[in-house]
Amino acid sequence: MREFILFSRGVTKEFKLNDLPNAGRMDLIARCISTAIFLSYSLRKDVKFHVVLNGPPSPPLTVTFFTNELKNVSPDERNIASHINIAIKNFGIGKKNSEPGIYIDKKSFEELVKEKIEEYGSNNIFYLHMDGEDIRNIEMKKDSVFILGDNKGIPKKEENFLLRNEIRKVSVGRIEYLTSQVIAIVNYEMDRRGL
Ligand SMILES: C[S@@+](CC[C@H](N)C(=O)[O-])C[C@H]1O[C@@H](n2cnc3c(N)ncnc32)[C@H](O)[C@@H]1O
Repeated sequence: MREFILFSRGVTKEFKLNDLPNAGRMDLIARCISTAIFLSYSLRKDVKFHVVLNGPPSPPLTVTFFTNELKNVSPDERNIASHINIAIKNFGIGKKNSEPGIYIDKKSFEELVKEKIEEYGSNNIFYLHMDGEDIRNIEMKKDSVFILGDNKGIPKKEENFLLRNEIRKVSVGRIEYLTSQVIAIVNYEMDRRGL
């Protein structure tokens, strides 16, 4: 399974679809999900995308999109954001899986990463950062987890947690890209390796 974890400041309440940037950069979040899970005219197989929402009023919440089960999701940001909104709304009435392939839980970034360390081992988890080792020199398996920050990056406390757990910093070059652009590059590198 290819998995992505995005640390975000996305809001943890319902938001207006006409104003995604003011919902903790929900536009960025939706763009990242679209880039991670879609190919031209199809969904990728075996991809999980987790976004940890750390914005107000009641953080954290983690929303997961699992491509093997998803239905009625399209690549545009507004559509993806609308599914996040549905997940947040239904979590309010106790539902953790109100649409196929979309899950939500009260899980923090650190809890989620700990789960993935147990599942895959920290040597198969990569923290995407401009100052890391070149991705082209890194051996990767089909089962890999990629951790990224939003426009403000990953806070020091969470970054220290990753480094303490021996999660390697990996770079796609010495230019600072948008998170969604880094996801496209990671997918491309994995695809080129047939993973
Ligand atoms: C716009 S950058 C965030 C910049 C933020 N000012 C910081 O200090 O982290 C968004 C995310 O994209 C990823 N990123 C950006 N450029 C990268 C690069 N050259 N290599 C690897 N990851 C990169 C990182 O995960 C980063 O948190």
